[in-house]
Amino acid sequence: MRPLECIFCKKTYPPDPFSPFCTRCQEPLLAASPDTACEIHSGRDHPLEKYIDFLPINKFSPEFSLGEGNTPLLKLNRLKRKFILPDLYAKNEMLNPTGSFKDRGTVLAVQRAVSLGIKKIGTVSTGNMAVSTGAYGARAGLKTLVLVSEDVSDEKLYSAGIHGTFLIKVKGDYGALFYKSLEIGKNKKIYFMNSVDPFRIEGYKVTAFEIFEQFNEKIPTHIFVPVSSGGHIIGLMKAFKELKQNRMIDKFPVFIGIQPEKASPIARAFLKGDVKYKRIKKAESLAQSINNPAPPGGNIVLKMIYELNGRVIHVTDKEISKAQMLLASYEGLFCLPASAASLAGVFRLKSENKLNPSDRIVLILTGSGIKNIKVLNPSEMKITTTSLNKLDFAVSFAVK
Ligand SMILES: Cc1ncc(COP(=O)(O)O)c(C=O)c1O
Ligand SMILES: [Zn+2]
Repeated sequence: MRPLECIFCKKTYPPDPFSPFCTRCQEPLLAASPDTACEIHSGRDHPLEKYIDFLPINKFSPEFSLGEGNTPLLKLNRLKRKFILPDLYAKNEMLNPTGSFKDRGTVLAVQRAVSLGIKKIGTVSTGNMAVSTGAYGARAGLKTLVLVSEDVSDEKLYSAGIHGTFLIKVKGDYGALFYKSLEIGKNKKIYFMNSVDPFRIEGYKVTAFEIFEQFNEKIPTHIFVPVSSGGHIIGLMKAFKELKQNRMIDKFPVFIGIQPEKASPIARAFLKGDVKYKRIKKAESLAQSINNPAPPGGNIVLKMIYELNGRVIHVTDKEISKAQMLLASYEGLFCLPASAASLAGVFRLKSENKLNPSDRIVLILTGSGIKNIKVLNPSEMKITTTSLNKLDFAVSFAVK
């Protein structure tokens, strides 16, 4: 098993699932990249088997899988034509088993837990990660604990609870809960596979490998990714770095991290050219799943984004809502506001003349819109009510 390493001070650590932070820098550790040549095993079906050379596992265990990955890359021609955009693609991560990209990380972390004989896992989340960890924990027969903030909605609580997950609502600072969970995990031997867990991040790399293959190894010019804790975009960037180390590509796509204006500590630091972000008091965007005032992977995101010449920008809630509606009504893709932030980012860069007609842009649609219908605005939908005897008239009026 490869060691974990701190990308700031370069210190390496044994791959201990209970100690995922550098004790010197207090930054999350990442799995060291493979030091032998990696191959893509094209004949294999499951992505964790296909890209296994890049991953910190020796074999793929199908009994822990729920069929994650292998998601389609869809060309968005209607949006391209309507808004005169470069070639636009969506990587549809909504099609993962629990409706979000989180499954790609959870499957790997759960497999890791079982291989180490760990019986209890946990996470800190109010949404997608709670559901994903609950589902994969159930599939592997593990005791699963999810710590949530006191004000979590019943809708979110029950979608994790149905899996038999132990749920504890915690009063107090949600940011501090992240670090407290790791302390409890270490003492009680509960593997907290939180948002920037190194094995979770390794699972996110697979999305990048799939994109690389879906583009026939040409690579897109831009990848737009919504950013909260930073775990997802770190995994995607790490994967492209490893493709380059293996001489499979010779340059990088431009990564554009997107945060909502009201929850944008990393984007604010980037715009000032800072190498460390400052936590903000409150994150209150309508894109709830990326409302993060103190992203634990924020400084790693900044370091890698500067190195790869990417950008982290912010967009308004209004731009996010509009993008959500456009993806659904032009392309049939109903994603969460968090995911739609990626399209809002494309419009922003277009308005700044930062895109070329020959570009090939990928949006990562991270999670399904069905998970949060409360943020939708029915007054913008074509909904009417009528009686049976007036239905003929209503239909002719509706679809003239
Ligand atoms: C739908 C959705 N998109 C994007 C993200 C951001 O991912 P990360 O926290 O890894 O940056 C999350 C995180 O919870 C999410 O739920
Ligand atoms: Zn360090």
